[in-house]
Amino acid sequence: MSTAVAIDLSVQLGSLRLRNPILAASGTFGYGVEFAHLVDLDQLGGLVVKGLSREPIEGAPPPRLCETPSGMLNAVGLQNVGVRAFVAEKLPGLRKYATAVLANVFGYTLEDYVEVIRVLEDAEGLAGYELNISCPNVKKGGMQFGSDPGLVGELVASARKAAVRRPLWVKLSPLVTDIGLIARAAEGAGADALTVANTYPAMAVDFRTGKSLLGNGTGGLSGPAIKPITLKLVWEASKAVKIPIIGLGGIETVEDVLEYLSVGASAVQVGTASFVHPSAVRRLVDDLHETVSVAKAFTISKIISEFRAENG
Ligand SMILES: Cc1cc2nc3c(=O)[nH]c(=O)nc-3n(C[C@H](O)[C@H](O)[C@H](O)COP(=O)(O)O)c2cc1C
Repeated sequence: MSTAVAIDLSVQLGSLRLRNPILAASGTFGYGVEFAHLVDLDQLGGLVVKGLSREPIEGAPPPRLCETPSGMLNAVGLQNVGVRAFVAEKLPGLRKYATAVLANVFGYTLEDYVEVIRVLEDAEGLAGYELNISCPNVKKGGMQFGSDPGLVGELVASARKAAVRRPLWVKLSPLVTDIGLIARAAEGAGADALTVANTYPAMAVDFRTGKSLLGNGTGGLSGPAIKPITLKLVWEASKAVKIPIIGLGGIETVEDVLEYLSVGASAVQVGTASFVHPSAVRRLVDDLHETVSVAKAFTISKIISEFRAENG
């Protein structure tokens, strides 16, 4: 007789049920379709596609990536095909998968964000939206949307009105004085979940040439180097709000996943690890399955609740 017990890794994030708590992060997994021959997309908890804007964007000059100790810098300049080309050319290829596909949305004005969501609302095959609010607001002189609670509230409320059909996640910037304040502003304006967090503004130079290692001059730091800082942000955000938190920053191993869950995340996303190995997200799902079965927990919610009891 088999002693195997079915392991249930599913998690409930508001109205959205994911088969497991591990998603591929925006900008590190293309539009998902490019990875389909390398990874069985249906094994993932979900995937967040590259950031989509109202019009196509060519992006920043090369070099766009550079390695740093325990991490990497990127300055891709939010290159993307634009929301209409995404709907026409990329989304149809994703519809055959049962995995949750979220569209990452950004803009330089509030109207840009609303227009991108309006176009996506008419399309089939998406599980939700993720607003990237780490963008400079051109109407406010380039100040980031994500660092001002008033602007965050305004932006999320407008996006909420446009996003009638689907859950709205808000991806916070890590570069804020009080993440709890920003998290509460997003929750108060109608966010269904928060992704914590984006990359950290950073730079790398070659002192011999006096030049930046990135064509754009500066970029965003990601990878294991940021994990302890983002872990603290997730912990603080999870204490500030009741909506689910999706932890994101430097995850490479199943231990990293469990650390994020233990400080209050209900799910995680994996970014830079997919550059090291394209099937990293899939491997983490397998490792989580193995870890949960060894712990004889059989549900991910049991593991989470045990961690929560310890961490308060
Ligand atoms: C090359 C690259 C492109 C990215 N593009 C986006 C993007 O379009 N939208 C977004 O919200 N985040 C973007 N990110 C940020 C990641 O989704 C993630 O927040 C960050 O890399 C931290 O996670 P990690 O340490 O697991 O990589 C990008 C990151 C990288 C490395």
